[in-house]
Amino acid sequence: MAKHWWQEAVVYQIYPRSFQDSNGDGIGDLNGITKRLDYLQQLGVDVIWLSPIYQSPNDDNGYDIADYQAIMTDFGTMADFERMLTAIHQHGMKLMMDLVVNHTSDEHPWFIEAQASTSAAHHDYYIWRSGNGGHLPNNWRSNFSGPAWQYVPELDEYYLHIFTKKQADLNWDNPAVRDSIYQMMTWWCDKGIDGFRMDVINLISKPAGLPDDPTLAAHPAGSSLHMAANGPHVHDYLQEMNQRVLSHYDLMTVGETPGASPQDALLYTGFDRHELQMVFQFEHVGIDNDPQFGNMSTRRFALLDLKQALSRWQIALNGRAWNSLYWNNHDQARAVSRFGDDRPEFRVVSAKMLANTLHMLQGTPYVYQGEELGMTNVAFDAISDYRDVATLNAYHELVEERQVLTPADMLARIHCRSRDNARTPMQWDDTANAGFTTGTPWLAVNPNYRQINAAQALADQDSVYYFYQQLIRFRHQSPVVVYGDFAMIAAADEAVFAYARQYGQQRLVVISNFTAQTLQRPIGDWLGASSAELVISNYPQGPLEQLRPYETRTYLIGG
Ligand code: GLC
Ligand code: CA
Repeated sequence: MAKHWWQEAVVYQIYPRSFQDSNGDGIGDLNGITKRLDYLQQLGVDVIWLSPIYQSPNDDNGYDIADYQAIMTDFGTMADFERMLTAIHQHGMKLMMDLVVNHTSDEHPWFIEAQASTSAAHHDYYIWRSGNGGHLPNNWRSNFSGPAWQYVPELDEYYLHIFTKKQADLNWDNPAVRDSIYQMMTWWCDKGIDGFRMDVINLISKPAGLPDDPTLAAHPAGSSLHMAANGPHVHDYLQEMNQRVLSHYDLMTVGETPGASPQDALLYTGFDRHELQMVFQFEHVGIDNDPQFGNMSTRRFALLDLKQALSRWQIALNGRAWNSLYWNNHDQARAVSRFGDDRPEFRVVSAKMLANTLHMLQGTPYVYQGEELGMTNVAFDAISDYRDVATLNAYHELVEERQVLTPADMLARIHCRSRDNARTPMQWDDTANAGFTTGTPWLAVNPNYRQINAAQALADQDSVYYFYQQLIRFRHQSPVVVYGDFAMIAAADEAVFAYARQYGQQRLVVISNFTAQTLQRPIGDWLGASSAELVISNYPQGPLEQLRPYETRTYLIGG
């Protein structure tokens, strides 16, 4: 297996709107990012992924793009971008851009022209169906509530939108669409960027005839996203994209692929496939979904489900393709609240436990802003405190329109799983608004910023931040962390996640207690060797076979 720099890298995701405001308008911006590069360099990450920074009306915070080649006014200018890119490179890091090409904003010039006339040059850039006397083209529901079709009376046609009605799906079957996208990607590559994170890239090829979604009868509030996933031509298009653009540069690529199985991932990321390098899979972030309301759920995950989801991917891709590793991103609840324990006495240990468990797996780890501080979920009192369009649409539909959930029940679900849990501003220090802005933040700061913030973490050698720094450093020095094979230990254990990695003569054993209880385990047997060196842990050394609450350890054998 050839080795690549992106296999050895750690990526840090920035959600620019919430990272650092530099001009007091309450919105994070590019100059704010440039200002904080020392902090990221000190953490040790190799690559920065920026959620979209392009011109956008912000129906979905930049995932609705109106101009792929201009910087969002809120975030700054192209000159700010160029200064930031140069500074990132000077800090020894790389920049991965978000590529959102399953859909554009309805304010993109292509769409504006497309909806003006059925004979417009760009009409066929989107997916249209006839008005048909008010009958929807099919029963598909948007991933963000309501039908996936929007009627345009002037044309007597509907267009397809898997996300909001301001995010119109592009028609990838039209070669002119693909040419336009490849040209735009080339333009960014020529500016010197280092990679792409591709938004819902496995949705670009829709199934022939757009058949009805059979799952909605049982799940009337469901999403039809899965109907568009892994469609008939998706691999043709990605191979074409690779051949036309990606293969001409030394890039890092990761595709977001909801509904992809390990078998699908082998097709997207197989080393001999010439498509993508890795995908973001969704299995481990779906294990706590609600049977009826999907990710609007208050359920706690079961550790066995988590272990099975992650290990399946480890084993299926080993030697053939490459995993991404993540707990968090801008769409997910905060990991320490969701998979760990955010009560004050357990927050730091459990955040470290999650970090070690993930970073020692085979794959490229992604750290989402604030994860390295153990930032937690937020629980705002009122729906009016929330900004995320998916949260607001779901509330509107389930509470107000269908009245299937009470406001209190829905808020409890939002507290567990709303995307705004991840989007509250970065907590830099204990001054007003956590040092994020001198103005009024676009989304309120989590009130716990006085205890949880970067200044505190940098001043505390035992902080979550320094633990991440240690994990990243260890990876950079240890081929077994990057390339070792994976094997589960005690697969049926419902409280402890333990596994081994093997690379030549080197072996790692990783052991994590996912509970707040003290447990006895036959760790001597698991290590199976007399000379195991404890290289990472979140407690002072104690009895070998006793695991304290959320204790995690990594042993190196044969190092
Ligand atoms: C992806 C993004 C998410 C966005 C959606 C539509 O899932 O991560 O934030 O809302 O695609 O672009
Ligand atoms: Ca700003």
